[in-house]
Amino acid sequence: MKKIIIAIDGYSACGKSTTAKQVAAVLGYRYIDSGAMYRAVTLYFLDHHVALTNPKEVEKALVQVQLTFHVNSHGVTEMFLNGVNVEKKIRKMRISENVSPVSALKEVRVAMVDQQRKLGKDKGIVMDGRDIGTVVFPDAELKLFLTADMQVRAARRQQELLEKDNLVDLDTVIANITERDRIDSTRKESPLVKATDAVEIDTTHITIDEQVDEVLRQAVSKMMRKKK
Ligand code: CDP
Repeated sequence: MKKIIIAIDGYSACGKSTTAKQVAAVLGYRYIDSGAMYRAVTLYFLDHHVALTNPKEVEKALVQVQLTFHVNSHGVTEMFLNGVNVEKKIRKMRISENVSPVSALKEVRVAMVDQQRKLGKDKGIVMDGRDIGTVVFPDAELKLFLTADMQVRAARRQQELLEKDNLVDLDTVIANITERDRIDSTRKESPLVKATDAVEIDTTHITIDEQVDEVLRQAVSKMMRKKK
């Protein structure tokens, strides 16, 4: 079967990464968490006190940012920034609270989209984010747009944070997700919108297994069609 590109977009904490990871594992595809790239850039900018209001400074800083993904011994893809594993650091609230303003910058988007397109040039990839089906891969064979109720999203994110030893109260999680959704959807550069040809999946009342099965069903149907 021909390899395809699967683009998964949606609001924060709708289960994009969990779904994308499992779909990629079943298909033997590469999984790319584009949000991790924006989070790693944010970590670099915070640690180096980069002024977001100064485009020259932002561009200079971006040249110093080298991002790579490595699969660990458990088969889990982890984000490396300039050769250092930053997977744990980029999931902290410090990054969640600063990532959306960084991601709204044109210079940052241009640099990330360029790298993401290179990663997808051989297809056989599942990428999740906010603009994958609209900007990064507008010709992706399968586009999905995930949604879920805020309470469910927040509870899932709180649990994920807890599993990584980050104890955050529910109100703080809700405030962060709400604010990021607002900035991500209203920014000038590549705002978060559902691509017209994306299939919407509401994950509020379905399990991860059901989500994954639905995406796989759609993927196989696209792969069969592509073969002809
Ligand atoms: O996991 P969660 O859905 O909370 O977020 P993420 O995928 O890790 O993305 C973190 C942030 O990166 C988002 O809130 C966006 O501001 C930004 N982002 C983006 O602008 N474009 C993407 N393709 C992916 C993420």
